[in-house]
Amino acid sequence: MSVEGTEKVSKLLNKALKMELTAVKQYLYNAALLRDWGFDNLAKIEVKEAYEELEHVNKFSDRILFLNKNPKFDGPERIKKVNSVEDIIKCNLSMELDAVKTYKTFIKACLDSKDYGSYKIFLDVLIDEESHVEHLMKQKNLIKTVGIEGFLHAQE
Ligand SMILES: [Fe+2]
Ligand SMILES: [Fe+2]
Repeated sequence: MSVEGTEKVSKLLNKALKMELTAVKQYLYNAALLRDWGFDNLAKIEVKEAYEELEHVNKFSDRILFLNKNPKFDGPERIKKVNSVEDIIKCNLSMELDAVKTYKTFIKACLDSKDYGSYKIFLDVLIDEESHVEHLMKQKNLIKTVGIEGFLHAQE
């Protein structure tokens, strides 16, 4: 791996780190609202997701340090305001689809830079994000089938 390659990939890893930190905060914020609205089971799922994103934070920050670069933890992460359960699912889905799209381009960039270690990390995280998308698509389809009332009733 060249010096330029390391430079390029570490920037992508820091972008990914920022996305993951944002995701952790978004899931925790969603969970807090869901608890406030009385949907404790849905809140628990959001907390579980937050932990999974936290693992991604660890993977990316460890890799950045391995490359002798500085992991950026101090950026301002903007989260989306949400007002309903449907809002939360929509927000999460767009966040996860964005992660899948972004990591696919980063995976290619890692290959171009011959950074196979970072490539493997992005690939593993991509697979996790794909499963997050699948889970959200299932929830979205369930709401479509049984309606929001039926969906919320099933979560109790
Ligand atoms: Fe993630
Ligand atoms: Fe995710």
